[in-house]
Amino acid sequence: MSEVVDRWSSRRAFILAVTGAAVGLGNIWRFPYVAGENGGALFFLLYVFFVLAMGLPVMIAEIMIGRAGRRPPIQALAALAREQGRSAKWSWVAGFGLLTVFLVLSFYSVVSGWSIEYLLSAVRGRFAGASPDVISQALDVFLANPWLVVLNHSLFMILTMVIVAMGVSSGLERLNNWLMPLLYLLLVVLVVYAATTPGFAHALTWLFSPKFTDLTPLVVVNALGHAFFTLAIGACALMAYGAYMPEDQSLVKAVVIVAALDVLVAVLSGIAIFSVVFSHHLDPTSGPGLMFVALPIAFSSMPFGVPLLAAFFLLLLLATWTSSINLAEPMVASLSAGKLSRPVAALIVGICVWAAGLLPALSFSTLANVRPIAGMTFFDLVTSVPPDIFLPLGGLMIAWFATNVLARHKAVSALGAGESGYRVWVGVTRYVAIPLVVLVLLSALIPKLS
Ligand code: ALA
Repeated sequence: MSEVVDRWSSRRAFILAVTGAAVGLGNIWRFPYVAGENGGALFFLLYVFFVLAMGLPVMIAEIMIGRAGRRPPIQALAALAREQGRSAKWSWVAGFGLLTVFLVLSFYSVVSGWSIEYLLSAVRGRFAGASPDVISQALDVFLANPWLVVLNHSLFMILTMVIVAMGVSSGLERLNNWLMPLLYLLLVVLVVYAATTPGFAHALTWLFSPKFTDLTPLVVVNALGHAFFTLAIGACALMAYGAYMPEDQSLVKAVVIVAALDVLVAVLSGIAIFSVVFSHHLDPTSGPGLMFVALPIAFSSMPFGVPLLAAFFLLLLLATWTSSINLAEPMVASLSAGKLSRPVAALIVGICVWAAGLLPALSFSTLANVRPIAGMTFFDLVTSVPPDIFLPLGGLMIAWFATNVLARHKAVSALGAGESGYRVWVGVTRYVAIPLVVLVLLSALIPKLS
């Protein structure tokens, strides 16, 4: 396949697209609840460490391969390996990435569907003045309704695939331009409000003063997986965007800006959500429903709460939309590299992911008692194993490819930071990021195997 000619229209457009891919449910929904289940501050500290030590180098590796290959992930890896006289079977790394994004998108669409439901409820003013108990029950009632959950999942899948079918670089740019600034603004409003609530100080301690006695291999692996999930790396999704990166852009600068913006959203939403949790004596370890209970409670007791809650869910939905478009892109781009047109590839991918999403969608109702492994529902399984194990594993293979297979001159030119910049990146990736990922994965797997 020949190289793609599409490009993001500017450097800003590329940064916004990658930020759009990174910022989403991971920061606002997943971060608070996984942090809640993993001891709060210690998890946060490890997550930030992993973003810096492993996330950034792997993110650079992934976008670099896309930029050097200028093709969809499967085709890029095969072509770049062949150029170096290596086996085209390296494209299996992208195959594994596609399996991972497939699984991740299947639950991502379901939870984004929850946001559609909450947006509509907020617009109707359903949570105005409601007590925390009523708000908690509303989530349970909604999740127990298989039709409604599947309907929202289906709507979200259609929304995603329509944009992907059109081609991401044109569809996304306009959306990203105003979405991100507004999302930050609303998060800041929420944090300012949180500062006036009684749980604020407790939230800060919970998030920022770690207790090292809580350290377990599981906390470490969860933090690593979350760092990869939130940066959207390890599954070739950013590789697909790297193929459209403009020629004259510094990759390092772009990646640092995106990672900083991404962590900032997690911090802001963590402070806001845990302030509500501690003000209203909610359980921080209550799991995936945490955000959907905490946010309506926060807004329902705030001036202009009804329109602000609706605005928040609208922005969250748009942020998850830009992330899910990124998750779908490598599958659709790879599939449409052959004879299939983009819309047909998008339709096939959309139907398959939608069907797989029925399992997590029904895990709170029809399939609540189906627990295939270790007492976990399909929802529990798919929200933990692909992000926590598959993404780091995929990231490891991507980093290995970029440092050991990719032609050096291509890597230097794709990085855009000169020979010395390349040497720093290779050093950090080879001697810090790769060994640490291996170590963390082994530390989590060995106790399970022994
Ligand atoms: N990176 C995306 C998110 O965090 C998947 O929502």
